[in-house]
Amino acid sequence: MEGRVMEINESQTEGPRTITITSGKGGVGKTNLAVNLAIGFARLGKRVLLLDADLGIANVTVVLGMIPPPRYNLYHFVIGDKSLKEIVVESPYGIKILPGTIGVSKMANLSHKQRKVLIESLYELNSLVDLIIIDTAAGLSANTLGFALSADEVIIITTPEPTAIAAAYGVIKIISNQNIEGSIKLVINRALNILEGKRVADRIVNIAGQFLSARVERLGYIMEDSLVGQAVQQQKPFVVSYPHSKAAECICHLRNRLARIPETPPRGIAALIKGLLLGEDFEKEWA
Ligand SMILES: Nc1ncnc2c1ncn2[C@@H]1O[C@H](COP(=O)(O)OP(=O)(O)OP(=O)(O)O)[C@@H](O)[C@H]1O
Ligand SMILES: [Mg+2]
Repeated sequence: MEGRVMEINESQTEGPRTITITSGKGGVGKTNLAVNLAIGFARLGKRVLLLDADLGIANVTVVLGMIPPPRYNLYHFVIGDKSLKEIVVESPYGIKILPGTIGVSKMANLSHKQRKVLIESLYELNSLVDLIIIDTAAGLSANTLGFALSADEVIIITTPEPTAIAAAYGVIKIISNQNIEGSIKLVINRALNILEGKRVADRIVNIAGQFLSARVERLGYIMEDSLVGQAVQQQKPFVVSYPHSKAAECICHLRNRLARIPETPPRGIAALIKGLLLGEDFEKEWA
């Protein structure tokens, strides 16, 4: 299988736009952003695939209220039982899902070969989707870093909490050190008001520019909104259950901004694999 991976042409640029959502600290809103943004793009008529790459504690299907969870998930792909096409499920609200796994410890640390095969196989889904949104685990596991480095765009989400900001900065540092080709975008979640969101974003963007020479784009903010927690409790995404909530309005702005950004041609499968290889180098350096 590895041989097949290496045959892929580096200049191949066909394929869906890929956006990875990640963070330094856990619990800062990645999955809610991924799910609600995916639904937002589906409402624009895009064919969206949401990949739950939080391979330790996947929770996309939980937020979407898919009960019982899909029968097959990435574990069945990794052990060779199913192809990705066989695992993809149509979820409510018009998006396709590649379900992750919960509590399968060996999934949390895929070998680099397994990650390569997974990414390569995403290529098989090219004709099915226009956009792949990848929800990751927090922090800098080789899995997460691989997905962050391989996407066209990586969105780093943080709350205004100092510990979350410091962890976000750490992620930006690692990603920018790897000469990422895709762009790094920043979302501030749980901002109490626009001023706070702007202040936090400015701080991160300025420090990243000054100390890391990293260009980080401000993508926007999501307001603190108790309806987000309620929607999670009800297992119905807030853009569906509370379409007029502050948080849903913010998602709409973020979606529109992303939709307007002139797209560099998606970098395609070759870039995805290259990113994974960089993730792997990082893993070796720290092993
Ligand atoms: N804008 C918001 N306003 C209020 N509460 C929020 C907001 N965003 C997220 N939350 C709360 O934070 C919780 C965690 O969100 P989410 O599961 O999306 O984070 P995560 O980054 O994916 O977590 P993990 O790192 O565990 O995967 C939500 O269940 C919700 O209660
Ligand atoms: Mg999550």
